[in-house]
Amino acid sequence: MIRHLYVHIPFCPKLCPYCSFYSEVSDASQTRRFLDALLLEMENQSGLQPHTIFFGGGTPSALSVSQLEYLLSGMRARLDLNAVREWTLEMNPATVSKEKAVLLRDLGVNRVSMGVQSWDADILKVLGRVHSAEQAGRSYGILREAGFENINLDLMFAIPTQSAAQWLFSLEKTVALRPEHISAYCLTYEEDTEFFDKFSSGQFIQDEEADALLFETAMDTLGAAGYEQYEISNHALPGRECEHNLAYWLGADYLGIGPSAFSTVGARRWRNIPDAREYANRVFAGKPLASFEENLDASTRTREAIAFSLRTNRGVARQALSPWREQVDEFSALGLLETDAGRLRLTRRGKMLADSVAEVFI
Ligand SMILES: C[S@@+](CC[C@H](N)C(=O)[O-])C[C@H]1O[C@@H](n2cnc3c(N)ncnc32)[C@H](O)[C@@H]1O
Ligand code: SF4
Repeated sequence: MIRHLYVHIPFCPKLCPYCSFYSEVSDASQTRRFLDALLLEMENQSGLQPHTIFFGGGTPSALSVSQLEYLLSGMRARLDLNAVREWTLEMNPATVSKEKAVLLRDLGVNRVSMGVQSWDADILKVLGRVHSAEQAGRSYGILREAGFENINLDLMFAIPTQSAAQWLFSLEKTVALRPEHISAYCLTYEEDTEFFDKFSSGQFIQDEEADALLFETAMDTLGAAGYEQYEISNHALPGRECEHNLAYWLGADYLGIGPSAFSTVGARRWRNIPDAREYANRVFAGKPLASFEENLDASTRTREAIAFSLRTNRGVARQALSPWREQVDEFSALGLLETDAGRLRLTRRGKMLADSVAEVFI
């Protein structure tokens, strides 16, 4: 039985110059057909009883109130949602309204993840965001008023021109709002983005030492405010970790619906075609949706689970790493890994080099 469901909504009010998630600027004339394709893909599933649902994107909140109502109630009619404990929907602050928030709450969404990125007007401009800091503040208030008691705010650091003071200001302002969860992502220069081109041409420069200090500021500020860093980029108040993402990291099976969505079920991993029109054409024609597919042997899944678990505060049982004893000893001697009650975890320094450490096990 698959217990974790992801649904990809590939629409945004405007495409951000740093982002490589598959998305398009919303096209109202195509949306109804697209929603029908999503519902049909859901209907065609068997062996699915979600405990967690995650609507990501793109920007699911770019859908209108009536489109969201159509999609979510259509989903309720097709899937058994009785076991759902956590249902997250991603929102962009520019697309939050009271009516939308109340509808989502009524239809069962109980967690919202909103992309604030920064509370600084100049940084929001560099990021090409469509919303202001004030609008993000108002949207947060609307979500609370609508009854959301589990909210994540996304922040980004290591943004071109961002000073240490600007980053600290964004962290402190976020903490003052007391969301249950805060994701703090280090900007990645993703291929095929405007930011990547500027990085390649030398217009944007990466300073790894400065970025490491910003990462430390995040750990210190969020930790002091009572948020536990339960994964490299994710911080939560006690008991408010994202169950859906934890399931991914700990190696559970999950099903992804919609264009560009990945699924991993048993020994099979696939990705639906990252093209909304072609995706809908294929769904209606009953054709295979995957544009990428691979077989995963047990050892690959184990290694992946190790690499992802190491990024979490649960760490990995020391025993599971016995084939890599030499590397573990070396990382421990370098002060990057520590053992506690038979489990290996990244140290504070190790967290700053998490990718290099995890890489060894994949
Ligand atoms: C799919 S977006 C969801 C929210 C919504 N679309 C928005 O932007 O407000 C998920 C998050 O990924 C992060 N993100 C996107 N591109 C990134 C990049 N290149 N490097 C680091 N984080 C990134 C942002 O913090 C963003 O809020
Ligand atoms: S960051 Fe969010 S709003 Fe911007 S393009 Fe990516 S998914 Fe869309």
